[in-house]
Amino acid sequence: MNDLTQPFKRLPVALIGTGSYVPERRLTNSDLEKMVDTTNEWIVERTGIEERRIAAPDEKTSDMATNAARKAMEAAGVKPEEIDLIIVATITPDTFTPSTACYVQANIGAVNAAAFDISAACSGFLYALKTAVQYIGCGQARTALIIASEKLSHIVNWEDRSTCVLFGDGAGAAVLRTGTGIEGDSAILASDIGADGTLTDILLVPGGGSAIPTTEENIHEKLYTVAMRGNELFRHAVQHMKDSALSLIKRTGIDPNDIALVVPHQANLRIINAVTARLGIPPEKVFVNLQKYGNTSGAACIIALDEALRAGRAKKGDIVLMVTFGAGLTWSSAAIRI
Ligand code: ACO
Repeated sequence: MNDLTQPFKRLPVALIGTGSYVPERRLTNSDLEKMVDTTNEWIVERTGIEERRIAAPDEKTSDMATNAARKAMEAAGVKPEEIDLIIVATITPDTFTPSTACYVQANIGAVNAAAFDISAACSGFLYALKTAVQYIGCGQARTALIIASEKLSHIVNWEDRSTCVLFGDGAGAAVLRTGTGIEGDSAILASDIGADGTLTDILLVPGGGSAIPTTEENIHEKLYTVAMRGNELFRHAVQHMKDSALSLIKRTGIDPNDIALVVPHQANLRIINAVTARLGIPPEKVFVNLQKYGNTSGAACIIALDEALRAGRAKKGDIVLMVTFGAGLTWSSAAIRI
């Protein structure tokens, strides 16, 4: 879904702060060697992942989201009461209802904010970004807090080596605000979201919803955990991430040489390398942190952006390209001037 020709003038939208949080506990590949039939070599060679973080048993998705949100608000210099919109992207909400965004709203005291969740798996953060950009662009919100937070360890089958080595827990957040529109100032230049619902069966958590309600039997069969056809997903990921990014580049007229940094979804180093090679982006312009955190679904790209900005990998005025892919299937990309 591209930005359509507008019948009215949209307000510019700026990124004014980011933050991230990962739990303390590290689960290394050698820890996993003791849990399932796998090796550090296989995991590193096939995915690039060396370790991932695991939330404490009593640590909720909203707790991680709140930690990331506070850091983003601090970086942005924004007070809770200034926020008028909170969107949390998650596939591991605290509860089916109310939304995780409402728990975050209470935690941070954002008394003037509307709050809701969206579900777009690994594409969730950029889906949230696109949604917030529409609110701000239309003058319906001035300051939006967008968060992606996942406790994937809760929906992973720890006996399935083909999935349990891939995922981790964490959260990332960003504050968006009406921008100045001045050339060189921060701006969300463009964003793209898309989906192919004919491929829902490639990656899903089959049980626990209205299709297969929770019963003792399907808990035993682990139907509440991630089921994935990794090989097929890999091909779709490369194709759609490349297509989404290329269409964004073409639409905005950005010269690929002017992209200072690509911050892709952090699922698999081979996917990242395949996508960025097809885009003609050299490895030194690609930010990767999946070796430390694994795939944290929607949180992965915003944790990566936050780390990249704090490490000085992109500075004010630089153009950063983000591109993601996930269950749905869903994909998304965004071009941001920092
Ligand atoms: N350790 C050792 N061997 C393993 C492991 C493991 N952890 N997992 C699988 N294997 C074996 C398989 O059983 C298979 O053995 P066989 O040849 O004897 O049958 C062999 O390794 C190769 O398996 P493949 O699945 O073909 O391995 P592949 O190279 O495709 O890598 C992987 C698997 C890493 C899952 C890859 O396909 C991938 O990353 N796919 C995309 C996954 C992804 O991005 N998922 C998240 C999407 S985003 C979201 O929405 C959450």
